[in-house]
Amino acid sequence: MGVLASGRGSNFQSILDEIEKGRLRSEVRILITDNPGAYAIDRAKKNGIEALVIRPKEFSTKDDFYRTVTDELKKRNVELVVLAGFMRIVGAPLINAFPNRIMNIHPALLPSFPGLHAQKQAVDYGVKFSGCTVHFVDMGMDTGPIIIQAAVPVYESDTEETLSERILKLEHRIYPEAIRLFSENRLKVEGRIVKITGDTHADSFLVNPPVIV
Ligand code: GRF
Repeated sequence: MGVLASGRGSNFQSILDEIEKGRLRSEVRILITDNPGAYAIDRAKKNGIEALVIRPKEFSTKDDFYRTVTDELKKRNVELVVLAGFMRIVGAPLINAFPNRIMNIHPALLPSFPGLHAQKQAVDYGVKFSGCTVHFVDMGMDTGPIIIQAAVPVYESDTEETLSERILKLEHRIYPEAIRLFSENRLKVEGRIVKITGDTHADSFLVNPPVIV
């Protein structure tokens, strides 16, 4: 896979940890970042993974930037593109080159609270549950077919920070899980419905996601 990240890269780390433990039989061929200060770069280096900084401002159009990103991924025979805190709307050249082969994780139960500051949106709205969603990426913002979701309670005392922390623990579980299902060729996309084939322990987790209090 190829990972795109803009910041601290804790989801990237959770994927690396699952590979390291032998629970995810997959390989990260490259980390691409738009931010030369991203801590994700350090994580890549510590794991012997190539890290490439591609700065959007060096391109005259958004499409040119995404054409270059796509070329770098293709050169390394990447089959799945994993967005791990990549803070940009993905452009058409990349989406068209990897149809239903780009995943994103969003810190809310989509279709509620798409876009930035999803956890703050949930707190401000007063929902009693929120969570996280792994989905394939399409041309919309956080609108693609949903692969896995997991829920957490939202308390009256919650702030954006406390809710983010609770959700992040589940992000680190469901993102590697979604990638594992992809790597085992168990995700079948029919329209906007993602069907999970096969039968393992994972399915009980998917049907009945744990609530972390
Ligand atoms: C996570 O909350 C993720 O859901 C969102 O961006 C954040 C990235 O965090 N897309 P990290 O860089 O993986 O720690």
